[in-house]
Amino acid sequence: HTFRIAAIPADGVGKEVVAAGRAVLDALAADSAGSPRPFAFSWEEFPWGCEYYERTGRMMDDDGLDRLREFDAIYFGAVGWPTVPDHVSLWGLRLRICQGFDQWANVRPVHFLPGVTSPLRKADDTDLDWVVVRENSEGEYAGLGGRNLAGRGPGGEVAVQTALFTEVGCERIMRFAFDLARTRARRKVSSVTKSNAQQYGMVLWDDVFRRVAADYPDVETESVLVDAMSAKFVLRPEELSVVVASNLHADILSDLGSALAGSLGLAASANLNPERRHPSMFEPVHGSAPDIAGRGLANPVGAVGSAALMLDHLGLPDQAARLRRAIETTTAAGVRTRDVGGTASTEDVTKALVEALNA
Ligand code: NAI
Ligand code: MG
Repeated sequence: HTFRIAAIPADGVGKEVVAAGRAVLDALAADSAGSPRPFAFSWEEFPWGCEYYERTGRMMDDDGLDRLREFDAIYFGAVGWPTVPDHVSLWGLRLRICQGFDQWANVRPVHFLPGVTSPLRKADDTDLDWVVVRENSEGEYAGLGGRNLAGRGPGGEVAVQTALFTEVGCERIMRFAFDLARTRARRKVSSVTKSNAQQYGMVLWDDVFRRVAADYPDVETESVLVDAMSAKFVLRPEELSVVVASNLHADILSDLGSALAGSLGLAASANLNPERRHPSMFEPVHGSAPDIAGRGLANPVGAVGSAALMLDHLGLPDQAARLRRAIETTTAAGVRTRDVGGTASTEDVTKALVEALNA
């Protein structure tokens, strides 16, 4: 079978880590030739991003979603560059794809790797892992609001940014989290809330959580305020399995989770349209990292882990597991980029990953 994948490296280190991920995926595919289940990837690369914006005035083509629609999956790098305002680049490309394709579930595993020292000082607890499930279609990033309300001019300007919570939106992400919990060794869902201070949307969130939880009596639950959850990530992470949170809360907590695992450069994510009516998108959690871009310093592990999530989605879980083992072999062997205490380049790590796959 040949899978059609749209690659959108976009900006900064996005280009370096997408190239790394493609090389590793192509190595896996090459190795499958002659196996009982051979597969291949047919790639099309799209040049969208901030440079494209500076040339054309658009982050992506107007018919971009229509062109992406026919692919089996989208493999994304990172968007954003100092020459373009971040809200323009993010909304013009990444959020347009997430919302256009109703990728309402964002899955972000927090995974501790051998050979990588965690600031938690639990570096040997490589069995410590949990998954942040992020509501990816509404909440605080619904894009509702406006500036200069009431016509007040400079100095007195008023801006409103409204969070949108729908019962349908809350319910589907919570069912997704509970279903995921049932596939894990520890069947537990922790809901992240702030309903003590935000008395409408977050109270609806809590109500739906309780209602959905009743359908999953075999799954342990807890509801934790987001501030307390930040502390829990650091102090008692072994109590976590699936963490379900709103768009903003999960955005922040997943960066915290990846930092606790050792680096933002390690963290993988999947933006899923679980109904499979539209393509899903796989990308590292990190951004375009202008501070290190173009110098071979980017850690490709987050992007390669995202490729493993893509393999799961494409129905190749054995290949995904093989890729994850290759990541562990590589970090354990000390082939690590600077962000995780090593001296290897992006390319060195990519080569080591390919060798580990073939070993
Ligand atoms: P960032 O994630 O790009 O960088 C934060 C820190 O982590 C930097 O010190 C960077 O060097 C480091 N880092 C990130 N990825 C790394 C990797 N693969 N290997 C080693 N170190 C890595 O976040 P920042 O600096 O806040 O944002 C930079 C740009 O990225 C902005 O334009 C922002 O809007 C955009 N952004 C895009 C995202 C996306 O496309 N999904 C997500 C987050 C930010
Ligand atoms: Mg983020």
